[in-house]
Amino acid sequence: MAALTVNLVLATLVAVCYGRFDPLQHSGPASPYFDAPSQFGIDSSTPSQCVVDSAAYIVRHGSRYPEPGSFAGWQALFAKLQNATYTAHGPLAFLPSWVVPVDDAPHQPLYLTSTGAGEAFKLGVDLRKRYRFTPGGDNFTVWAAGQQRVVDTSAYFLQGYLSQGNYLAAPPENRGIVVAMPDSVNYTFADSLTPSNGCPAYKGGDTSAKATTFRATYQGKIAARLNRYLDGLALNASDVGTMQDLCGFQAEVSGDTRFCDIFEEEEWNDYEYAHDLNYYYGSGPGNPYSATVGFPWLQAVTGLLASAPNASAGGNATFVPPALVMSFTHDNNLPPVVAALGIWNTSDARGVYPLSPSRADARRTFRSSYLVSFLGHVALERLSCDAHAPSSAVRHTAGQVVAAAGTSAGAQKYVRIRINDAVVPVPGCASGPGSSCPMEGFVKHVQARGAVAGDFVERCGLQGVANATGTLDIFTKVPSADAETFTLLAPQANALVPVGL
Ligand SMILES: *[C@@H]1O[C@H](CO)[C@@H](O)[C@H](O)[C@H]1NC(C)=O
Ligand SMILES: *[C@@H]1O[C@H](CO)[C@@H](O)[C@H](O)[C@H]1NC(C)=O
Ligand SMILES: *[C@@H]1O[C@H](CO)[C@@H](O)[C@H](O)[C@H]1NC(C)=O
Ligand SMILES: *[C@@H]1O[C@H](CO)[C@@H](O)[C@H](O)[C@H]1NC(C)=O
Ligand SMILES: *[C@@H]1O[C@H](CO)[C@@H](O)[C@H](O)[C@H]1NC(C)=O
Ligand SMILES: *[C@@H]1O[C@H](CO)[C@@H](O)[C@H](O)[C@H]1NC(C)=O
Ligand SMILES: *[C@@H]1O[C@H](CO)[C@@H](O)[C@H](O)[C@H]1NC(C)=O
Ligand SMILES: *[C@@H]1O[C@H](CO)[C@@H](O)[C@H](O)[C@H]1NC(C)=O
Repeated sequence: MAALTVNLVLATLVAVCYGRFDPLQHSGPASPYFDAPSQFGIDSSTPSQCVVDSAAYIVRHGSRYPEPGSFAGWQALFAKLQNATYTAHGPLAFLPSWVVPVDDAPHQPLYLTSTGAGEAFKLGVDLRKRYRFTPGGDNFTVWAAGQQRVVDTSAYFLQGYLSQGNYLAAPPENRGIVVAMPDSVNYTFADSLTPSNGCPAYKGGDTSAKATTFRATYQGKIAARLNRYLDGLALNASDVGTMQDLCGFQAEVSGDTRFCDIFEEEEWNDYEYAHDLNYYYGSGPGNPYSATVGFPWLQAVTGLLASAPNASAGGNATFVPPALVMSFTHDNNLPPVVAALGIWNTSDARGVYPLSPSRADARRTFRSSYLVSFLGHVALERLSCDAHAPSSAVRHTAGQVVAAAGTSAGAQKYVRIRINDAVVPVPGCASGPGSSCPMEGFVKHVQARGAVAGDFVERCGLQGVANATGTLDIFTKVPSADAETFTLLAPQANALVPVGL
């Protein structure tokens, strides 16, 4: 046991010191959650003279089983491997004994894996500790697109976030409330956590087929290399696609990483770049309608951050959202927020964007693995900062708790964007502590981006459509006309029953 621990520690040290290549951090949307590396050299911890006093997140659901389409691909691979008589050598020697890692086929596809549940719970724990916003006993409301895996992610998040002390004897306290929005429908328009489905023009801007073309340039070569280890069976390009997907998915289902080990670093980089092209041109800055679709969320949370506390903006608002606004959705609704923000498509490296359809440029900072991994998220944090870092000698007067950093009357407000933990600077606005953007500068930036995004109703081609709206107001209208709100007791009421009594 001690030897095993030592080995694990050593392996971790080696990985940290030598940056060993990890396919699970280059698997795009099949990657389990990991903190993205700092691509801009900015420390993600809150600067010492600041405190985060409000934040808004948009989060992809946690790791899940395959969707039915890719599940069919796994089954086809299994049939091919089982239907043939052949000898598999070396790195492929495991193929004859490999079975599809789904043990409840009618049920599991589409739903969270235990890894996904754990990722969501851990995010709840991490944000509770990071911000310390919700005192024990308080209720906490989150918003989720309505598909089961997204709602489940929000519920596991709440379990982690609200698991503080024990409120089982006080059921009205420490309640989690989930506002579940209709998912992937076309009648809620921008007032949705899946607005891409509410914008008819958006599909026409999707040129993600570039990813398919790119895959055709490398998958056949990989199959030919692997086939040297097989006598009596030939893998082809589609088998390679399925097997690379299985690295991440099987790791998440059962911890089995054998598919991760059979491909080379360059092969993973090609696989990752195909995902980058898919998201960049499908739902990211390469689709001319992405910014339009992502802007309503950005506009709504910018309004909340600019006016917090008591952010409800008047009008028909009925609800004051918490200082931490959590919204849960699907992968394809994160890149539009990136496009709306105008980040990852502006680079000092000329010629990087739009992404080349045929050649990965190492200078690009748009990386699908750092955005749409499972539980991937875009966060905006509002920092309240003193003018100077705290002094190294602090005088205490008996009976008076010294005010914490960022809470003085003169504290100024700033915004930072954090994507999968890493700080991504606001273009042209990074003069504040920790490369943050002063609040007025951020509001100006968002206004300028609004002009690029254009009017949702008009650009999406919804003029004259009944109820069409370009405004997302679900954070201040609770209950919303379309949502199904439900309450989750957290921690759940599974009180200990003494055995034998
Ligand atoms: C299984 O093998 C038979 C005979 O070789 C072939 O006709 C059939 O298409 C194969 N099925 C699959 C799923 O590969
Ligand atoms: C939490 O919400 C419940 C139900 O709406 C309410 O009865 C209770 O007072 C709230 N508790 C707190 C601490 O706000
Ligand atoms: C929504 O989808 C339905 C069914 O496909 C279609 O009939 C309707 O025209 C769509 N509405 C809009 C606003 O695109
Ligand atoms: C690869 O082989 C499978 C079955 O062996 C077949 O269904 C599939 O169409 C092939 N794909 C390509 C790209 O040839
Ligand atoms: C991304 O960059 C390209 C080329 O530089 C530009 O045409 C496009 O408008 C940009 N997209 C966004 C959303 O800013
Ligand atoms: C915010 O709302 C609380 C509770 O409704 C109220 O006591 C407080 O005065 C409000 N603060 C501001 C700045 O409006
Ligand atoms: C408030 O709601 C009413 C009825 O739904 C609507 O007519 C009105 O425009 C809304 N006002 C604002 C400021 O949103
Ligand atoms: C518009 O919204 C109203 C109220 O929610 C609803 O009754 C009506 O069916 C909607 N109209 C269309 C065309 O969706």
